Amino acid sequence: MPHPPATPWATLASAERATLARHEEALDALLARGPLSFIDYMGWALYDRECGYYAAREVFGAHGDFVTAPLLSTHMAEALARQWAPILADRGGAIMEVGSGNGQLAVDTLRALGRDGRLPDRYWMIERSARRRAEAQARVARDIPEWAERVSVVADWPDDKAVIIVANELLDALPAQRFRMRRGQAHPLLVARDDSGALGLAEGPADLEMTAALQDLALADGYESEVLPGVDGFLKQASEHLARGVILLIDYGFPRAEFYHPQRHQGTLMCHFRQHAHPDPLILPGLQDITVHVDFTAAARGAIALGLDLAGYTSQGAFLLALGIGADMPADEREALRARQAIKRLTLPHEMGELFKVIAFSRGLDAGLQGFSLLDRRRSLAL
Ligand SMILES: C[S@@+](CC[C@H](N)C(=O)[O-])C[C@H]1O[C@@H](n2cnc3c(N)ncnc32)[C@H](O)[C@@H]1O
Repeated sequence: MPHPPATPWATLASAERATLARHEEALDALLARGPLSFIDYMGWALYDRECGYYAAREVFGAHGDFVTAPLLSTHMAEALARQWAPILADRGGAIMEVGSGNGQLAVDTLRALGRDGRLPDRYWMIERSARRRAEAQARVARDIPEWAERVSVVADWPDDKAVIIVANELLDALPAQRFRMRRGQAHPLLVARDDSGALGLAEGPADLEMTAALQDLALADGYESEVLPGVDGFLKQASEHLARGVILLIDYGFPRAEFYHPQRHQGTLMCHFRQHAHPDPLILPGLQDITVHVDFTAAARGAIALGLDLAGYTSQGAFLLALGIGADMPADEREALRARQAIKRLTLPHEMGELFKVIAFSRGLDAGLQGFSLLDRRRSLAL
C-alpha cells in the first residue's frame, strides 16, 4: 500500500510549484542585495503585494491553512456583542476592528448587536490585505445588506474615533524579529544563503537595545526567541483612535516570564500549511503562514506607557464563559450539538480556551468589563 506523504508540501500541485518558483526567484533578487533581517523576511513573506501569503492565498477555513475562532462559530461574536452593548448604550460611537480578515467577526457581531438594538454608529474594518477586504465587502453585501451603509472596509486607520477597538489574531500576524543569545548579547537573525546556496539563518551583529530590553531575563547562550516591535506601533495608533472606551485584543501568548521561559529555548514561531503546523519559516516562502505568540507583559507595558489603563487580562475560555457563551442554545438538536462542539473548542483548556488570551486597555471607562468578572489574571503579567 502506498504511504501517505509525510508533509502536505510533498505533493504540491504544479500551479503551486510554479508559484513557489516565482517566489523563490523574487527572494533571490532581494538576497542579491545582501542578507535580510528576519523581520524583513517575515514581512515580505506575509505581506509582499506579489508574493505575500496574506496578499494572495486562501488562508482561512477548511480549504485554507488555519481556522480562527470567528470562523468556527458565531459564539465569539455573540459574546463580544454582549461586552459591547453597555459601552454602546452609554453614548453610541464607532467600532474599529483591525486585521478583520474576511469580515466574519464583523458580520456576526453586527447581527448580534442589531438583534439587541445596539448597533454602533459605524463599524470600521481595517484590513491590510486587498483580497481579504474584497471578501469582507462581499460578505457584508450578502449577509447584512440592511446595515451595509454603517460598515466601511479600509486598508488603514480612518480619520475617526472609536469607543471600541478590537482585534482577533492580529498581533500574531505582525512580523517578528528572531534573535539568538550569544555571550549575554542578543543577535538578530538574518536570512541569507550559505556557500552551498542553501537558505539559512545567520547571526547578525549584537543589538544593544534589544540586549538591554532582555537583560533581566538572563537568557542562556544559544537561546532563540522573538520580539514583536510592531505591537507598540499598533498600540500607539489604537490609542490615538480611541476616544474613550476599550481596546480589546484576543491572541495566543503568555506573560513575559512564560514567553521567555528557559524551556522555551527555541521561541514560539510556528508555520501553518494546510492545517499542518511546523517550525521552519524558510520553506514555502509566501505559501505558508508564519506566526509568533504574543508577550502580553510587553503589550501591557506599552499600553500603560501610552496612558491607557489595563482593564483586564484572562484566558479566552474564562472571558467567553463570563459573557455567558452558550446561554442560548438552538432548539434544533443537530444545531445544538454543533454549537456544543464549537463552544468546547473555544473554551476548553486543551483546545483554544487557555492558550488564547484576552487583554483589554481602556480610557475613561466607568464600569468594569464583564468578560473579566470570572477570572482576571492581570497580576500574572508581573508589571
Ligand atoms: C491571522 S489573520 C486574522 C483574521 C481575523 N481577525 C480572524 O480572526 O479570522 C490576521 C489578519 O490581519 C491582517 N493584518 C496584518 N497586519 C495588519 C495591519 N497592520 N493592519 C491591518 N490588518 C493587518 C492580515 O492581512 C490578516 O487578514
